Order: sequence, then structure tokens, then C-alpha cells
Amino acid sequence: MKTNSIPTTSYLHSSFGHPVLRSWSELNTNLTKESLIYPLFITDDANAVEEIKSLPDVYRYGVNKLEEVLTPLVRKGLKSVILFGVPKTAKKDNFGTSATSEANPVLPAIRLLRKKFSELLICCDVCLCAYTDHGHCGILKDGELENIASIQRLAEVAGTYALAGAHVVAPSDMMDGRILAIKNELIRIGKGSKTALMSYSAKFASSFYGPFRDAAESGVKGGGDRKCYQLPVGSRGLARRALQRDMAEGADMVMVKPGGPYLDIIRDGKVTGKLTRELCTNYPVAVYQVSGEYAMLWHGAKNGVFDLKVGVLESLTSFYRAGANVIITYYTPKILEWIDERNYPSKL
Ligand code: PBG
Repeated sequence: MKTNSIPTTSYLHSSFGHPVLRSWSELNTNLTKESLIYPLFITDDANAVEEIKSLPDVYRYGVNKLEEVLTPLVRKGLKSVILFGVPKTAKKDNFGTSATSEANPVLPAIRLLRKKFSELLICCDVCLCAYTDHGHCGILKDGELENIASIQRLAEVAGTYALAGAHVVAPSDMMDGRILAIKNELIRIGKGSKTALMSYSAKFASSFYGPFRDAAESGVKGGGDRKCYQLPVGSRGLARRALQRDMAEGADMVMVKPGGPYLDIIRDGKVTGKLTRELCTNYPVAVYQVSGEYAMLWHGAKNGVFDLKVGVLESLTSFYRAGANVIITYYTPKILEWIDERNYPSKL
């Protein structure tokens, strides 16, 4: 695993070259366009626009549709996207082989976005679950996860995205040791100072991922769960340890997921960054308002429980209050419009 002698944590300022990344390392108390990341599901039918029943108003797109979909959003100020591959025709196996082949629709998507939207910050979710035949986020041996093989494979996937042009790689698998493995791989391929590493550090075994698994077709086959690698819902202490560990292994940014039910963990992420390196160090903390939270807000508003804009803005306000710098949300297109209307409290 050790690939050269530079400590992974040396790659500090250089990983923050992109202007959007620099804005993430500043303290944010205003709702800004820079702080929003829009998740995109990329399928391998290049011309597809597919509805996702459990995620109203969110679609899977083929690579040929991306320019048309994103042009108006970029015009409205979209600064960043995170890409999820949804391979449908690619063969799935234990190793997620297709994740590093041209069968992975994320690769042409990265290249296209780099070409067409030169200022857009491109993040890629790094995981195996959409590419394995069993649907787990790592490699199995005799029915158990094989840690070293899994993190080596995840590092290869992250490296492949980095070489294709991703600015940020974001591993969501939760295998132990993957941050160090990925950081070393990025350094080895010459991307240590070009590609930032955002760790899904505090990712809980949540019931709120259901619609995403529909969208990415990434559920565990046969109905198992991911409790042996995602965090126990009640464990604040384990989440703190995961945050600290990932910072120590060379993560440039950390993430908490889901968002609304885990505001205490967002705050811990902010504080952990400061404690880990004494004075005022700054680990941008991202929060993922996940598919189930999106759907709850959507259905609540649809059924007259609250106004959608007021409810969503309240959820964002809480994220900022807890200490988040970056918010991943399927509501991004709507929020860009709401920011333009300026019809919200500007100081959150
Ligand atoms: C892949 C991954 C998941 C999400 C992001 N990356 C699903 C999971 O871990 O089961 C969930 C995102 C959402 O619910 O919006 N490992």
C-alpha cells in the first residue's frame, strides 16, 4: 500500500487549487451557490432520461443529455456536481471490474463536463456497490468482506476518476483504511496535488437511503444490509473516531451523511478538525441531505404540511448552524433560483 515516502497529509494547499474548493475552506454563514453540490445519476444508455419513482423530479441521465440539462443550471450559478454511475448493461462481478473500464458511464461524463463546463467543480462518488454483482461496497471472499483487496480496488477506481479529470473523489464505501489507500494512489499517479479527497467519514447505516438505491440500482442483492461497515445510528463516539481517523489518513474534507437527523455529528466534524490540529485548522465539512430526506420534504410539502421553499431553507439553515461548509442536495436547482429571488433571510 505504501507507495512513496511523502506523508499523505502534506498535500494541503495544493489540493485546494480550484476556486470553488477554496470557498469551501472559508467559514460560511450565508447560503451561497458555491456551497451547493448537485448529485447526478449517469446511466450507460447515452440518450436516456429516466424518471426515478421514489425521487420525484430527479432523473437518471445518459451522457448525451448532460450538456442540455446542465447548461441552464450552470447559467443560474451551479458550481459543483457529484456523479454516480448507474451501469445497466455492463457486466457486474465480485470486483466491480466495470468501474474502471470504459463501460463505466461516469468516465465519459467527467470528460464531457470538463470540456463543456470549464469552471464546474466535478466530484465523483467512489464506491463499488453499483458495479458488484452482490451489491456490497467492497469485495467478498467466502461471504465476508475482504478489507485489503477492497481498499486497493477502491483506490484504483478513485485513481481512474482522477485521471479522467475529476477534481474531487469522494469514497462512500466505508471500508477501513480506504482514505490512506486512495491518497497514496493519487500521489502515486501524480494526482496528489490535483485531486482533492472528500471522505464520507461519518456515514450511518440509515433508513433514509432507500430512494437512492432505487436510483442507482445499488441495493444489496438478496436483501442484506450494510450494517457491518456503515456506522450504527446511535454511535456519536464511533463517528468522531471515523472523522479523526480520516483526517489523519489524509482526507482533505469530511462528510456527514445523512444530514437532518445528524446535526450533532456535523458539529463534531467541525470541532474535530480544530482539535486534531490544534489552532483553527479548517477541514471543510460537507453534509449530504440524502434521498430519503429529499423525499420526506417533497411529500410533506406536497401534502400541505409546510411550504417547500420554507421547509427546505430551514433544513439548510440548520446545516449551516451546525457548522457545515458544503451541502449536497437534490434540491440544488430550486435553491439556485431561490437564492436569485433573494427572498430568504440572507444572514442565516
Ligand atoms: C453508495 C452511496 C449511497 C448513497 C451515496 N453513496 C447508498 C448507500 O450507501 O447505500 C446514499 C445517498 C442518498 O441516499 O441520497 N455507497
